[in-house]
Amino acid sequence: MIPEPLRGWCPKVPQDTGRFPDPQAAGARPWRLNRAARRTENGAMNEATTNDSNTTPPAGTGTWALVTGASSGIGEEFCRQLAARGHDLVLLARREERLRALAAELESRHRVRTFVLAADLADPGAPEAIAGQLEAAGIEVGYLVNNAGYGVPGKLVAVPWDTHRDFLEVMVTAVCALSRRFMPAMIARGRGHIINVASVAGLTPSTAGHTLYGASKAFVVKFSEALAAEGAEHGVKVSALCPGFTYSEFHDVTGTRGQVSKLPGFLWLQAEDVVAYGIDAVERKRPRVVAIPGAIYRLIVWLNGACPPLGRRMANSNAHKFRKT
Ligand SMILES: NC(=O)c1ccc[n+]([C@@H]2O[C@H](COP(=O)([O-])OP(=O)(O)OC[C@H]3O[C@@H](n4cnc5c(N)ncnc54)[C@H](OP(=O)(O)O)[C@@H]3O)[C@@H](O)[C@H]2O)c1
Repeated sequence: MIPEPLRGWCPKVPQDTGRFPDPQAAGARPWRLNRAARRTENGAMNEATTNDSNTTPPAGTGTWALVTGASSGIGEEFCRQLAARGHDLVLLARREERLRALAAELESRHRVRTFVLAADLADPGAPEAIAGQLEAAGIEVGYLVNNAGYGVPGKLVAVPWDTHRDFLEVMVTAVCALSRRFMPAMIARGRGHIINVASVAGLTPSTAGHTLYGASKAFVVKFSEALAAEGAEHGVKVSALCPGFTYSEFHDVTGTRGQVSKLPGFLWLQAEDVVAYGIDAVERKRPRVVAIPGAIYRLIVWLNGACPPLGRRMANSNAHKFRKT
């Protein structure tokens, strides 16, 4: 019998070239998207997901989905896949030009409505301001993807507190505040989806450097578990999506691209697969509350749980390959 962590697909991905990969590589494995689409909660096959470029759902048929960190990587891919499924989109990040370009592309390709919000989630007032702007625009969020995030290299004491505080605002406080702001309307409607993008780092031992990253992702996992339990009886489904190394701009922003480029190819995930797995996880009849894309990462997490001292030893001896102290 195959143990639970090994079930499902294990993505074959190209070796890292040290650059953000060509998103066209996504077209190489449409079967995975089809499989995810087939498992939606009403069992219906979503045409939009199966034939990406020819999709024309009528505007306004989907729920408004708010995606934070929509200007690149996993968040951008969430926008693409949710638009293909007919959702209207609120795209949020700091780089407004990128958001506008993506919004225009998705509007014309999928005939969905979009709303661009340039906001810095490190600003403690941002979640309330965002909610106010959406309310003024008559937008009710029914699908929330808390995805924005980054890493801070260095040890706790080497980094100024202001940098840590901003980090916690983005990675922890904004996730809770946006969920708190939009969940009541989902409960009132008896339907809603929340995906909180966490990480395998929240499920495995932390090591020196990037001190608050694993801690913040562990928080997001625990927060999502509680929220899933609170939302279940009201039709609100919640998942913590926990990817491992994924091709995006993340490691360029964090400054670890040189190190992580040397990691073996089997550890790398494509944003396209991560997002398809995450959407499937939250939309299935019984959501996966903690969703780990990639059999290799399910195995790693399972082994860590089975033997924590071994997990800690492995993490500490390999940390120099992906952490900057
Ligand atoms: N890539 C990986 O290996 C990996 C693995 C596990 C988990 N994750 C998680 O996946 C999520 C997405 O990361 P990614 O890999 O897609 O990285 P990415 O390509 O660097 O995207 C990060 C996104 O977050 C936004 N963002 C960062 N700081 C922000 C702020 N202060 N206010 C608003 N938006 C902000 C960025 O937009 P602007 O710069 O335009 O604001 C960008 O759109 C993160 O939560 C990350 O922790 C990534």
